[in-house]
Parts: sequence; C-alpha cells; structure tokens
Amino acid sequence: MGVDMASPELRWWDSEVGYEVYIRSFADGNGDGVGDFVGLTEKLDYLAWLGVGIVWVTPFYPSPMRDFGYDVADYVGVDPLFGTLEDFDVCVAEAHRLGLRLIIDLVPNHSSDQHPWFQASQADPDGSMRGYYHWRDPALGGGPPNNWVSHFGGSAWTFHEASEQYYLHLFLSEQPDLNWSNPNLVLEFDRVLEFWLDRDVDGFRIDVAQGLIKNMLMPDNPQLRPITPDMTPRQAFVCFDHRYDLDQKGNTAIYRRWRSIVEPRDGLLLGEVYLRDNNPDKVSRYVATQDGLHRAFYFAPMHTPWEPSAIWSTFRNALDAAPRDLSWAVSSHDDPRAPSRFSPKQPATDNIGQERALAYAVLLFALPGLPFLYQGDELGLVDVEVPIEQLRDPVAVRNQNPGDGRDGSRTPMPWEPGLTGGFTTSTEPWLPVSRSDAETVAAQRDNPRSLLAKHRELLALRRELSDLHGAELEWITGTDHLVISFQRGDCMCALNLADTQTALTLPPGKWRLAYSSKRQAGEMQESSIQLDSPEGVLLVKATS
Ligand code: NOJ
Repeated sequence: MGVDMASPELRWWDSEVGYEVYIRSFADGNGDGVGDFVGLTEKLDYLAWLGVGIVWVTPFYPSPMRDFGYDVADYVGVDPLFGTLEDFDVCVAEAHRLGLRLIIDLVPNHSSDQHPWFQASQADPDGSMRGYYHWRDPALGGGPPNNWVSHFGGSAWTFHEASEQYYLHLFLSEQPDLNWSNPNLVLEFDRVLEFWLDRDVDGFRIDVAQGLIKNMLMPDNPQLRPITPDMTPRQAFVCFDHRYDLDQKGNTAIYRRWRSIVEPRDGLLLGEVYLRDNNPDKVSRYVATQDGLHRAFYFAPMHTPWEPSAIWSTFRNALDAAPRDLSWAVSSHDDPRAPSRFSPKQPATDNIGQERALAYAVLLFALPGLPFLYQGDELGLVDVEVPIEQLRDPVAVRNQNPGDGRDGSRTPMPWEPGLTGGFTTSTEPWLPVSRSDAETVAAQRDNPRSLLAKHRELLALRRELSDLHGAELEWITGTDHLVISFQRGDCMCALNLADTQTALTLPPGKWRLAYSSKRQAGEMQESSIQLDSPEGVLLVKATS
C-alpha cells in the first residue's frame, strides 16, 4: 500500500545525506589535542569527496565544557578551544565553495550556569532575568518542588542557598533549563538565529527539541515503576511517564516562529525530538503541520537490536506516522556506534557488526526523509573501550562506569595510522584514538573494497537516484517477512534480516542491481534475488 505524499515540494535537503561532525573529535588544527574549526576546514574536502551534502557541527560556543559544549555560556560566539568567529566564517565559506551546506547545533533547552543570564538570574531574585529560568520554592515540608529527574541521574532540581529556591535542570546541575514561557527569552533566541543566519549557516539542529516548554504548574510526573540502585541514569529516567516535563503542546509554536525566521533564508530546521518511548505519533506532530520543523530525528532506529520484528516495527510505525519528514541516523555521539550495537559478541571479534551496519545504511539511505552518518560510520568504526582513568563523559566519570557515558563513541577520527591517528600533533588527544591501521581513512581511501569505498558509492547513488528524493514509498514485503523491502518509483530497496540467505521475488519488470553491501552491482536476468545474510541492496528498473 502506498503512503500518501501528495505532490511534496522538494527542498535542497531532500537530495542530500547529512554528516555529523563531533567537533572535539574530528580534526585538531592547532595541536592542543581537541578538534577545532581550522582542523574541520582542512578536512571539508574529504567530506565533499565522500559525497556528503550537509555537515552538522556540534556545539562550539564559549562553554565551561561540563557537557562538552552542550552547556552554552554565550550563544553568539566561538569557544577559543575551537577557534575564533573568523575561523568559523572561513569554515562556512569553504564548505559553500565545496558545495556543502553547514548546519549548527542550537541548544535552547538549557544554558550553562556560567551564562550571564543565569548569573544574573541567580544573583537577583527580583531582577528581570530571574524569569529566564525555572525557580521554585521547596515543596511543603522541604525538598525539591516535584519528583522530576534529570536525564543524567538524580533530581532535576538544585537548591540555591542564597535565595532559598530550587532551579530546574533536566541535565547536569550546570545546565539550568531556560524558561520558554518568558517572552523576552523568546526574543533573545530570535536574535541568536538571525546572528548565525547572517553568518551564512544553512540551518540548525535543535537540541532537546521536545523539551523546551514545561507544564508551569509543575505537577509530579506519574511514576511507572520504582528506581533501583543498579539502574543507569537512562533506565531511571524511563521509570517515569514524562507527562509534564517533555513533549508539551507549546513546543511546536516555537518552531513555527523559527520557521518564519529561517524560511526567507532557505534554512533547515532539524529537531532532536528524543522521546524515550519513541512514539512516532508524538514525533510526527513536530513536522506534520508543515510549518514547524522541516525534519525531526527519529531515535528508535539507533536503539533497535538486529532483530527482524523490532526493525520492522520501528520503520513501519515511523513511516505510517510521518511518511516523509523524519531524519534517520546510523549512529551518534550519544549512542553506541552501529557496528558495536549490531555485533552479537561484545567486544566484537568478527566483522558481522560492520556488515549489518552497512546493510542497515542502505535501508536508511533509501527511505523517505533525511539520512545522517556520524563521523567514522563510513569507516565501520566500533566503540573504543576507554579505560576508567581516561573517561571524560560527566556521568561516566561521576559513576566511574564507562557504560553510563558516551566516550566510547566519541573518540577521535582516525585519519592515518599512528598513536594519535593523524587527528592531532599532540601526544595527548582529549580521548584516546585507539584504532588499528586498517580502520583509518588513509588505509581505506584507495581500497575499492573498503567500507569507506562502499559508503562513498552508496552516497553517490543516493544523490543520483532522484526517486529516492521524493517518490512515494510502497512496501513490497509485509512485516512477517525476514526481508524488509519497498519500492520508490523505479527504485527498490531490500534488507535481509534473516540469519540465512533469503530469496526475494522482485516486482514485475526488469531490474538492475545498482548497489549491494555485499557484492558487485550489475545486470540481473532473474525475477528474484537471493540475498546474503546480512545484505542490503538497491535495484533500479531498467527502462527498456
Ligand atoms: C542531546 C545532546 O546530543 C547530548 O550530547 C547532550 O548531552 C544533551 N542533549 C543535553 O544537551
């Protein structure tokens, strides 16, 4: 059955693949062990060569770096660690010269506690800035005003002795939540968006897009199950129904407002709509009206195990709810890398995780919506096991547990063989590089059978096959089949999720194998295809 996508207007991002640059770990231009704009600018030609269309750069603003930049102390500057505003301008200009678009990470849910707004808010309970944040009296009888918990563990409230009130923070206590019901704050962010649009950015990835508005009565969230001491912060967070702190109706009004700011500049609004229940109907609300976010990241595909029914329901439900406006990522700086996640053995001792991740990328690239790679996905990188004494993630450090943090997927890009992987000239990268020679860009770049070459070929096809930019999706197989398969115009995609080879009957017509994660592309005589395990393929209908 087809999905109704009545004459969608194609925009520039419809034909592109995005690429997440975690700037701290991409390329270090000044030899201090941390990635920066000079380093990124030097590597943009690599991204153009790879075939990327959109570069998303993670936060680079002045910051005390408690959450590595997601704690912003100035929304209109560049932290000296990453360079200067001039370095930023050079990077944007060079990206554009190479035909790349650059979007930046906007962090509107919270600022740093070092932001002048919070400093003023804290210093003067009667001042105009107090209302930029959420301050509340203790509960009757004492203690935090309600039972809300932080994503990073513990209560979402911290007591401020001097004013005898609590302030809200859904992440670290050094990341106080901004109050989006304050009209002046709304105006501040209009100016932030305009500032960066004036510097020629092509859009924004919006951090915690589901969280800006809170229920201002701040009732307790219903608790679904008890929290036990062995739980990770993530597990504890989902012990609650986040009915009053996340996904409030007013969020979309903010994006409608921003849409009117970016639209005259043809800018993209891409939200991180991270709902722990991964309910696609809720996510679709952010994009459904066509005047809010252009695209919303859907997170279930980054958490799904390699299990046919789980993968089927992830994509079927998502595409039923939002047939064309979601964004798909293979991995991210917040989650285990796909080859690790898909590897049956931990740590991986074979390359089945990589094979699955590449086959999975074929699926994501063929779906309606905007697909993203995370830096290093194209090399098939697995997570690095970071020794306890080298952990940097704030939650992992606090709990002395790598599993509670995200360092394993944030280690620097391996450009060349060597101890620091060509990432930095420093002997002390901020996280260890720890890669084999075979994992590096240098080793894979000229090898036509490498994962890098296979990803590059896939990116080129995604751009070339115009049916993948806008054509309606029609499922070929049903959810009881071990092959996920669908057609879009004259293209079809199939992903074998079975542990064995599986035959798939092709729709009528003559088909050519345009891409396979496993074998050479080429002409086909048969009316069915025997898919390897795992294997992802793209087929194109022959015109004559
Ligand atoms: C999501 C970001 O991707 C993550 O890295 C960050 O810690 C939280 N939002 C808080 O900003």
